[in-house]
Amino acid sequence: MSTYDVQGVLQTLLQQVAASLTPREVLKAPEFKQMYGAIATLAPEERGAFGRQVNEVKVAVEQAIVAREDELESADVVALDVTAPWSVNGKKPELLLTEQGTQHPLMKELDTVIDIFTRMGFEAVESRQIDDDHHMFGTLNFPEDHPARDGYDTFRTEEGFIPPAHTSTMQHRILKDGKQKLEAGGEIAAISYGRVFRNEDVDATHEHTFYQVEGVFVSKTATLGQMLGTLRSFFETYYGQTLRVKTQPAYFPFVEPGLEFLIEKPAAIGGKPDEWLEMLGCGMIHPNVLTEAGIDPTQYRGFAWGGGVERLVMLKYGIEDLRHFESGKLAFLRKFES
Ligand code: PHE
Repeated sequence: MSTYDVQGVLQTLLQQVAASLTPREVLKAPEFKQMYGAIATLAPEERGAFGRQVNEVKVAVEQAIVAREDELESADVVALDVTAPWSVNGKKPELLLTEQGTQHPLMKELDTVIDIFTRMGFEAVESRQIDDDHHMFGTLNFPEDHPARDGYDTFRTEEGFIPPAHTSTMQHRILKDGKQKLEAGGEIAAISYGRVFRNEDVDATHEHTFYQVEGVFVSKTATLGQMLGTLRSFFETYYGQTLRVKTQPAYFPFVEPGLEFLIEKPAAIGGKPDEWLEMLGCGMIHPNVLTEAGIDPTQYRGFAWGGGVERLVMLKYGIEDLRHFESGKLAFLRKFES
């Protein structure tokens, strides 16, 4: 009789089935091929008995597969791609039940931000994730080869496309699209939100991928005062309290004057008096940017602002490290379940 350990092979295969998320794959295990191959090496009178044993193994494995498939199905395991070849510290992936899935905290907060601005009358458009030099720089009054372009640490594809480094890449489109509304006596009031990308070294306060929200407002009478009122109103609504705010000069080629908008860190979250935080860049839209979109800067004026979403959210919840947002770590995400 053969020395082939049929019972040992059966045990191994049954263990594989029990641990597998795709148990039917076990039928392709090399052990089956080896056992069939072994039949031919036996003396003719031994082949019948050995063949029956191999067949019993196959039947037992198939039964185990059906049982395992039933088990997997009733566990309602759908949240992760179970064919992904991960293991974390040698452990199998943790499977999430559908009812444990939640919206990412950043998306939840972005919805809140969008909600506040749309209630104020701003239309919301998603920002593009791939764009070109013309929209990212050219239409925004960045001269060719101007050093201000370097401040944006921009990625470029070999073909010359740009994953935008700021949501201002949408300004020109918003202005062009709104021109008719303006000429019909209305106003342009829009926000653009979405992912932006910068070629930065990643640390607790820098990410290569993050979110911004941009605002654009144009009318015959827009003023800096309206802009400051709009921003104050947004921040006070978002943080649910009155805030001290101030501005300081800043340079962006597409606004004049250009400002940074700061809020005093609220005492409720550990801020000291006169502890100021830069929240975003803003200013009156530069006449060249309006002209570029076919809007006469002697007839119309506008203001724009843009800033990061993560920073807002980090301040609200006391999150100390920006990298948590893109990490996909369940321990972090679960703190924001509701
Ligand atoms: N796009 C600028 C940035 O990302 C911010 C900004 C937007 C400044 C609109 C002024 C007006 O740094």
